[in-house]
Amino acid sequence: MNISGKKILIAVSGGIAAYKIHYLIRDFIKKQAEVQVIMSPDAENFVTKLSLSTLSKNPVYTEFYGDNGTWNSHVELALWADVIIMAPCTANTLAKMVHGICDNLMIATYMSAKCPVFIAPAMDLDMYQHPSTLQNLELAQDYGHIVIPAENGELASGLVGQGRMAEPETISQTVEDFFNLNEKKSLKGKKVLITAGPTYEAIDPVRFIGNHSSGKMGFSLAEEAAKRGANVILISGPSVLNSKHENIQLYRVTSAKQMFEKVFEFYDQIDIGIASAAVADYAPKEVATEKIKKNDDSLTIEFIKNPDILKTMGEKKANQFLVGFALETQNEEENAIAKLKKKNLDMIVLNSLRDEGAGFKQDTNKIKILTQTDKIEFDLKSKANVAKDILNCIEEQILK
Ligand code: C5P
Repeated sequence: MNISGKKILIAVSGGIAAYKIHYLIRDFIKKQAEVQVIMSPDAENFVTKLSLSTLSKNPVYTEFYGDNGTWNSHVELALWADVIIMAPCTANTLAKMVHGICDNLMIATYMSAKCPVFIAPAMDLDMYQHPSTLQNLELAQDYGHIVIPAENGELASGLVGQGRMAEPETISQTVEDFFNLNEKKSLKGKKVLITAGPTYEAIDPVRFIGNHSSGKMGFSLAEEAAKRGANVILISGPSVLNSKHENIQLYRVTSAKQMFEKVFEFYDQIDIGIASAAVADYAPKEVATEKIKKNDDSLTIEFIKNPDILKTMGEKKANQFLVGFALETQNEEENAIAKLKKKNLDMIVLNSLRDEGAGFKQDTNKIKILTQTDKIEFDLKSKANVAKDILNCIEEQILK
């Protein structure tokens, strides 16, 4: 799959990173996409229409009216585009976009568009962290736009921090991935159930036993499966994460028992089950009705075993493809394979606490994927990319 023939509208606002847009246009043109460029009036202080129109092979518009009284139709431009890329997107342009302040051709075009919108913010580090920018980026994501986060590094001010526009290659790759996924929709029609996060087991009304799981791996898997067209049921223990994808139904639970019950509400309907939750193996036998007082020097709590959700899924398996996770500290592969068999799984994802950057709370993970017959080892990657690897493997196995 490539982006040949795709209609890409690049909207440039007035930031120093505008100079990098030449490389982005050249990259898209090389890949045989059609490119048009619009600019905010201020962007002309940074780059010229002549260079952008030469590279894009199209006129570049800034104003609603041309020199000879012609109207530059923002509606036509908006409807022409398959995607719009706001890059660089300054704090000012971002604020205007999300609040509908339509005082130039570029914003009018953006507001007339029905296509997907990508935003590559670029600004100084303190502006990037300002509550208004953070809130505006959040709003943009709520509108369904795809934010390509600014990168860390040296800024035009001489300060060093997050705020540099993502590199043209990153922007181009994000757009290409988007078209690939959108057109592939490889999991369209599939119902995928994912468990995520930790579970909290109550001791008394204020205390619980929990673990360090953040839910990042499960939420990344849900996002990726949803992008591939699956209908996702995401059942998460306590996690600060949220998901707004229209293909994801998110259910929040607290304890292993609640997670178990929620999973089996849907189990009969699903095609793929992925258990990435770090479920507590034991829960206090009794939950004190009042807060336990510190009267004694020691406290003994009796625990009883929680239901093993994934094992029960394995026992009740009809046609579901089941994937489990294993976090091992010794004899990793052996233990993972034993778990695969014991729980009647089709695939197990092994991550080791020994690998730096892997495991709980981290944004990255390093995994091995094991099936009855195969083993694939992967490098340390972002959890979003790990989710892609896992779903690629699942798709491959399903199609076998
Ligand atoms: O046996 P162990 O807890 O190491 O297995 C881990 C795998 O089993 C994970 O996929 C986890 O989500 C799942 N699991 C579960 N219910 C439990 C314990 C683990 O679904 N009570």
